[in-house]
Amino acid sequence: MKYIFGNWKMYLDLEESVSLAHDLIDSELNEIFNLIDIDISVFPSTLAFSSVYDILQSSNINIGAQNLVWAPKGAYTGEVSALMFKDAGANYALVGHSERRYIFNETNEIIRKKIDACLDSDLKIVLCVGETQEIRDNNQVIYYLKEQLSVLKNLEINDNLIIAYEPVWSIGTGLACQPFEVESVISLIKQELKLYTHQDVPVLYGGSVNENNILNYWRLKKCSGVLVGGASTKIERFEKLCQQIIS
Ligand code: PGA
Repeated sequence: MKYIFGNWKMYLDLEESVSLAHDLIDSELNEIFNLIDIDISVFPSTLAFSSVYDILQSSNINIGAQNLVWAPKGAYTGEVSALMFKDAGANYALVGHSERRYIFNETNEIIRKKIDACLDSDLKIVLCVGETQEIRDNNQVIYYLKEQLSVLKNLEINDNLIIAYEPVWSIGTGLACQPFEVESVISLIKQELKLYTHQDVPVLYGGSVNENNILNYWRLKKCSGVLVGGASTKIERFEKLCQQIIS
């Protein structure tokens, strides 16, 4: 199975999200995707989640949460839990996205609690890992990724986990990581994952993936797909991007 995940971040308001969801199910590509083994999933804002779910539920496109809180229910003003997202139709949840780590100060400890909440709620986890420019400049990438993956200690991992390798310096910058480098980091990640599971966990690449470069990653043997931000938020771009892999 290969994956194309679209992280809509906070780029789209409710109306724009609903309109993109309609465009996705009206797209000719949708019929093709029904025939091939690719998991297309989108991650709308929490505000638009249910409306987008209603539109996509009869299609083969899955839906996931961009963020969640670790508690299941209760006095947590402003938060939405894994359980609530599951009830509302989510298949996946992004956990540890760099924008959560660096803008909202999410630590490994918080990330682990969110992972546990996803497991308790039967949501598949998309754990995002990746180094900052500074870590890269200091040649500490491997050490850093090991640290980020250590949140998987003592977990029951089966088909409930996907890793997204997203170097922070490549996200939203247009500076996509070189494919040979992605392949070698994914090898390292897969090696490290052996400490935690015997399963072959899919590893995706994310960071300035677009309609012009997707094939470079799609063709990599060890890369199971892509997590796309900006280029997934416009139907023309997303269609072109998907077109690349089927033509
Ligand atoms: P980008 O974002 O494709 O806009 O670089 C990727 C992501 O944050 O998942």
